[in-house]
Amino acid sequence: MFFITIDYFEDLLKKPSLFKNESKLDINFIPEKLIHREKELVLLSQLFLVLITNPNALSRKILIIGKTGIGKTAAIKLFGEMITNAAEKRSVLIKYVHINCRKERTSYKVLIKIVRALNKNFPKRGYSPQDLLDIIVDSVNNQNLQLLIALDELGYLINKGGDLMYSLTRINDDSFNARQCISIIGIARDISCLSNLDVSTMSTLQRNIVKFKDYTKEQLYDILKYRAEISLKENVISNKLIKTISDLVYHSGDIRYGLNLLWKSSKIAESQDLKYITMECVRLGNHDIVPFSTLDVLKYMTLQKVIFLLAIIKALQKSGKIQISSSVITNSYLILCENLGIQPRSYSQLWNYLQDFKRENLITVEIKSEAIKGRKALVAVQEISLSKFEEIIINILQSKGIKI
Ligand SMILES: Nc1ncnc2c1ncn2[C@@H]1O[C@H](COP(=O)(O)OP(=O)(O)O)[C@@H](O)[C@H]1O
Ligand SMILES: [Mg+2]
Repeated sequence: MFFITIDYFEDLLKKPSLFKNESKLDINFIPEKLIHREKELVLLSQLFLVLITNPNALSRKILIIGKTGIGKTAAIKLFGEMITNAAEKRSVLIKYVHINCRKERTSYKVLIKIVRALNKNFPKRGYSPQDLLDIIVDSVNNQNLQLLIALDELGYLINKGGDLMYSLTRINDDSFNARQCISIIGIARDISCLSNLDVSTMSTLQRNIVKFKDYTKEQLYDILKYRAEISLKENVISNKLIKTISDLVYHSGDIRYGLNLLWKSSKIAESQDLKYITMECVRLGNHDIVPFSTLDVLKYMTLQKVIFLLAIIKALQKSGKIQISSSVITNSYLILCENLGIQPRSYSQLWNYLQDFKRENLITVEIKSEAIKGRKALVAVQEISLSKFEEIIINILQSKGIKI
């Protein structure tokens, strides 16, 4: 048996790869240049220049908005690195902390993350949010640095998120003549995502909005071409195919989809021992790609919600219809819960889940008025093939120890 395994690897290792550097197609890879985002980076630099020229004199609070997959995160991370480096050269200390609020959903988690960026070994429990705010202020003062906090995916900060933003934006205002040493960059899809923030925080942030526009088809082409150049060997993909991929991406505008398709197509070409990517590879790759935003959403979803989502998919598959009513879904859910031996959630909770799924673009919900029975919600899944969706969800559940 051992021999077979070893030969397998040897075979694969002998195969010429189409990649020069596969990791450069990864969606989390931050390229050293962001073409077509120069204007935004210049604007940000102008806004934050004062942190270097006149440290602690002014703090900035700005909001970046723009659709998913258009380089907001990449641009801000790159910007964080640029400003830290430029400051360091002039002996000014700026600490950049990037926080994904979809991952750190509560104010407490966000604050802990900031504290830990300042003091590595800080214990995770036992402090109130106010303690944590105090610790942040103390650390920043003791270490004599300016803090630049990026709160990415701000729309996902739940419940008391408003409080947190309020406190963070007010830290400097407490004492007269205080050092202005905490700046904030909020990032969100659009302003309506931020309805959980309090009014005064909103108005603070809204004063400085930097809008990231969608990429045009031509820009998508340039970006994908660049990413292909740094990750694939020469002549592996033709300009024409890159154009095809950018056209496919243009529909959602999410570059991550394009990067994934590029990677998938390359893998398919490799598996077929081709020396370059063909249209058929792209077609095959495009067939079963799930949008990255969906995978992201699923990654951080609670178990109860994942199970409810699976119930929706199962009900849709079983009915063979495009849309199904919420009562059919509820039945499917109750059966699934029984099979899994878990306690079902309440109707109102399920209704909230539906709203979340809708907001996260996983489903569409159409409300139909019916004369006698009142209103009825019709649910559909549009973007993703149901079997693929089911497969992913079952994998997630299995990774969490649940057998379907
Ligand atoms: N102008 C660009 N040049 C090169 N890569 C880009 C550019 N814009 C976005 N990307 C890449 O596309 C992917 C998605 O960008 P990201 O910053 O995560 O989007 P957002 O935060 O707006 O959802 C990342 O891999 C990023 O590196
Ligand atoms: Mg992002």
